[in-house]
This record gives sequence, structure tokens and C-alpha cells, in this order.
Amino acid sequence: KMRFYLLFFTLFNWIPEKRVFFSFAQDEVLCARPQTDEQVEALQDLLNTTEVILWQPVVVENIKKDRDVHFYVRESSINSTKAQLRQLTIQHKVLVEDVRGLIEDQTTNDTFSPRSSSSYYEHYHSMKEIYHWMEEAVKVHSDLLQKIYIGSSYEKRPLYILKAIHVRERDRTMTRLLEHFDFYVMPVVNVDGYVYTWSHPSNRLWRKSRSSHGNSKCIGTDMNRNFDARWCGEGASPYECHQIYCGPYPESEPEVKAVARFIRDHKDIIKAYITMHSYSQLVLFPYSYTMDKSKDHDELESLAKKAATAIKRTTMKTYKLGAGAQTIYLAPGGSDDWAYDLGIKYSFTIELRDTGTYGFLLPPHEIKPTCLEALSAVKEIAQHVLENL
Ligand code: ARG
Ligand code: ZN
Repeated sequence: KMRFYLLFFTLFNWIPEKRVFFSFAQDEVLCARPQTDEQVEALQDLLNTTEVILWQPVVVENIKKDRDVHFYVRESSINSTKAQLRQLTIQHKVLVEDVRGLIEDQTTNDTFSPRSSSSYYEHYHSMKEIYHWMEEAVKVHSDLLQKIYIGSSYEKRPLYILKAIHVRERDRTMTRLLEHFDFYVMPVVNVDGYVYTWSHPSNRLWRKSRSSHGNSKCIGTDMNRNFDARWCGEGASPYECHQIYCGPYPESEPEVKAVARFIRDHKDIIKAYITMHSYSQLVLFPYSYTMDKSKDHDELESLAKKAATAIKRTTMKTYKLGAGAQTIYLAPGGSDDWAYDLGIKYSFTIELRDTGTYGFLLPPHEIKPTCLEALSAVKEIAQHVLENL
């Protein structure tokens, strides 16, 4: 039996998406919903002029009427921000009150539970711990796991992909899938950014890479704007200080280059690409760089529907679906669009939990069910690929 059809998926930035500049005592995450074009504009102005950090959408330009806007407000600005929202009669509420407590819950207990215990998967772990875990995992399961070095990060940390190969599994679908596919999993792409998010509580929500180009005063490129797919078009920013900075040129980030090279080198055997993001419970497919439909739109849409149904069956959670640009916003330079245009038809971005209750600060007890539902989506996609080889 030939076994050279592959699936590839990565965990892109599963927690860190936003940057926090300051220390916090009673910082809060607010939710506002503008209901007229005037309110949209007023909210954009307000968010531009206060020291808030947008969680959703990623930039003020993408704020739309009748859509919830989530943003992080530091303690010192909370009262004035709320007063202004009230004055503008923009509907709003507090989403997350205890930001400090949530961050503490996430970044303690790192090495508390043993790697072999199931509660290990109910905690977040530091990069150091994840490196150890990868090493242990391939040692203990040398018959089914390989660790592949694909390059190093800007700060010279190694980048690894785990390859899962066929083995007798308890789960029948999984056995069948692994009979036909090898799975490549990259647990952390943005290793430098991830390390940074653990270095201080106020850095916990960093999104970008940690590179510096030229003599910019700001650090970091948005890796999901750095792929060579209509690079730096509308929906990305050429300014180093912006959250969605596209970098000085495509694949300027060593991490992006390493991932792109690995996929390019294996493009004929890779049959699907899935990238995991946070947050908003979405199954997205190309395109994100244009409002136009891709030529496989109908098939991808029906497959995304099947994936969302599988999730519902697993945990009762609702994931919406659609083409990226139409569903959320224009976002060029993304890995999914790039992989798709390279010829990997089944290319998806899954935005994991939740829809804003905790947003980027998802509590540890939700890790496991989130993984279970994501896995059911992956299986559904793999199943479909298998039936359509
Ligand atoms: N959270 C993601 C981001 O802004 C959504 C990206 C969707 N765009 C895409 N190219 N898939 O990075
Ligand atoms: Zn994302």
C-alpha cells in the first residue's frame, strides 16, 4: 500500500494575537456594537485615540455596523472610555473583567502535571516545556513519531515539525486515516513570539514575530501577512508598528520562509493544509486576499460545512464557515491562500474558541474540548480528501 498522501497543519498563533504595552491591575476587555455608520466612525475615532488594543476585528478599518467589536482597555482608560461610549450612545458591555487572574491561570502550572498525565493537556505550557515534550514524545513513540528540523527562528530557536506515521490505533477512523496519510504537525510556528508572551504578564497577548528590520522603532511582522499571496495588498499594512505589518518583503520572516520551503518541497504529496488560529469559532477557506470566490469554492464550502457539523456533534459548539475575506475581512499574505495557490486545494484556517467571552485568554479547562472539536474537523477533512484522491 502506498502511503504518500499527506496532510499538513500548523498551530499558528493559538494564544498570542495582540500586543499589550503596559502593566495592568484592573484592565478589562470591552465589547461594543455600533449600529449606525456615524457610530462606526465615532468608534473608530475613539479607538484610534485611546490606548486600547483591538481584539476583534484586527484593525479599526474592519469595524462594521451591527458587528461586535472587542477591545482591551487598560485600567487608567476604562472610565473615560466607558463615558465616551455612553455619550456616543454606542451599546457596550464588559466582556472580561479579571484579565490579570486569567493570565495568571494560564502561565502557572506549566510543569505541574507530568507529561504522561492527561491533565498535561489541560494546561498551557512554556516554549521550553514544549521543546521537552516534543523530545520525549518522539523518544517514547519512536515507532510513530519523527521530529523534523525545518530551520531556525529570528532569535535562533529551532523550528520543528512532528511527523505522525501509521500505527495501530484504538480509534477506527484514525487507524484508517493513518493508513493512508502521514500527518505533519507544527506545534508552534511563532516560537519567538510565544516565548515573549511568557516573559511577562503584560506581554501575554503579543501577536507578531520578534524580528526587527532596518532601523524601525517597532518590532515584529504579522506572519500571516508575510506569505507570498497578494503580499501587502489591502488588509495588510506596510508600517512596522502596525499589528498587521506585512514585513519588508514576502517570506522576510525566517519562520515563514522555513514553513513555505517545507511546503514547497513537499507540495506534490501534501493533500491538505490546516492552520489553527484563535479566536472566533470559524472554519475559513480561500480566499482571504480577495472577495472573489476561488474555483473550488463550492466544494470547500460544503466540506467546511461538514467540518462544522462534526464539531457540533462532538462538543455542541457552533462554528461558522465561509471564504476568509467574505466572512471576516480582507487579509492578504496568509498561509492558507498561499498553500491553496500552490496547488493544495484543501486549505483551511480554523479559528478556535471562543467567540469573545474570554477571547485570546481562553481558560485552561477549555483546551481539551477545543482540541477534541478541532480534531473532529481535521478527521472530517481528511476523510473527504481520502474519498476524493
Ligand atoms: N485571525 C486571522 C488573522 O488575522 C484571520 C486570518 C484569515 N486570513 C487568512 N488569510 N486566512 O491572521
Ligand atoms: Zn489569526
